[in-house]
Amino acid sequence: MAQHIAVLRGWHPALAKAELAALLPSHNQISNKSNRLSILEGELSHSEAFDILSISSGCQSILLNGFIHNWQNDESILLEKVESYLQNNHREGKMAVVPLRIEGKLSQFSSSQIAGKIGGIMSGMGWQIDLSNPDHRFSITIDGSSSQIACGWVVGDESGSDGVANRKATQRPFFKPVSLSPRLALLAVNLAAGPIGNGPVIDAMTGTGGFIMEAAATNRQALGLDLNSQMVEGANQNLNWLIEQQNITKSSAKIVRGDATNIAASIDKSWIGQVKGFVLDPPYGRNSQGSLDHEELLTKTLTSAHQVASIEANLVLIVPINSIPSQINTSLEDNSPIELLHGEWKSLQQLMKLSGWQIKSRWVEHVHGSLSRLVIHAEYVPLN
Ligand SMILES: C[S@@+](CC[C@H](N)C(=O)[O-])C[C@H]1O[C@@H](n2cnc3c(N)ncnc32)[C@H](O)[C@@H]1O
Repeated sequence: MAQHIAVLRGWHPALAKAELAALLPSHNQISNKSNRLSILEGELSHSEAFDILSISSGCQSILLNGFIHNWQNDESILLEKVESYLQNNHREGKMAVVPLRIEGKLSQFSSSQIAGKIGGIMSGMGWQIDLSNPDHRFSITIDGSSSQIACGWVVGDESGSDGVANRKATQRPFFKPVSLSPRLALLAVNLAAGPIGNGPVIDAMTGTGGFIMEAAATNRQALGLDLNSQMVEGANQNLNWLIEQQNITKSSAKIVRGDATNIAASIDKSWIGQVKGFVLDPPYGRNSQGSLDHEELLTKTLTSAHQVASIEANLVLIVPINSIPSQINTSLEDNSPIELLHGEWKSLQQLMKLSGWQIKSRWVEHVHGSLSRLVIHAEYVPLN
């Protein structure tokens, strides 16, 4: 079976792996000792890889049919593998070899020297090298922390500096301190809603519209609700700004005033039982707008989401917690202690279960010294 290497961005590789699994549900992801290299097993064309990268938050590039070499100061073996790869994965046109270091350094390894030698192999095969305007880029991605080197024809931005990595919530016309970072918002939308075309996604407490903007940018059917009309106005301003800025021609994403505890009242009847993804970032502290207390609001919102959900729906809930040491390479263990900023973790678990949402995984994203965010991924389960 074909294998490809996904190169994950550094901000949260564990979330990036989960996002990739949601976007490519029929591919196996094989873990290896590198946190930022993930092996994808299954057929994947150049255009499919390109499409995934254009919507992914956590994945920066994919090495098609790529391979991972465990570096043991064995340059000649690496070069033999590269030569055999190039013979089996022919390309037409101009080529460049692009070295990229993602984590740490490798001992006795000079990327520029190796790149030069690979360029020599390509020239020997009669291929033309053009570093400034290549048709194809061959990546040597170096992960010093696991002593691994990933090689292959690269799709996407091998340096990882484009796309969502460049966008900031503060650049939008309507910003509030509650605005989530675009990279987390996009990741949550992908994790909740899965592949494009899967079905609609709802953010029942949209605030400044961060999730819905990402859903619109990735061409999803999406609806955002908020009780506060100022938020609805501001979120729409943001959405229109994005549509204009990114020249999105046919977005069906909408933001309207509505109550998260009664989602059915705000959606088109045809959506009932069809909503595939829910993203939820409930109010906390002084930003809370509702008259209900935190747990009551959450229970009613989760129940109202369940009422309109498809039986294959996923939900991503983001809640603030007291800061714990950054854990970007793994999900939390089931028994990890969690201190929510509002309420008890045990009662949140209980209320999710009682409203028909089974927790699959949890991750922590560090915000600042005293604040982290818990990202909870749950799936629909029928209620008796
Ligand atoms: C933490 S903010 C969401 C921030 C958002 N993720 C962003 O990126 O801007 C929570 C929002 O929930 C809204 N809200 C509170 N109760 C609600 C309810 N019952 N229905 C809909 N929205 C509600 C608040 O007005 C607030 O804008």
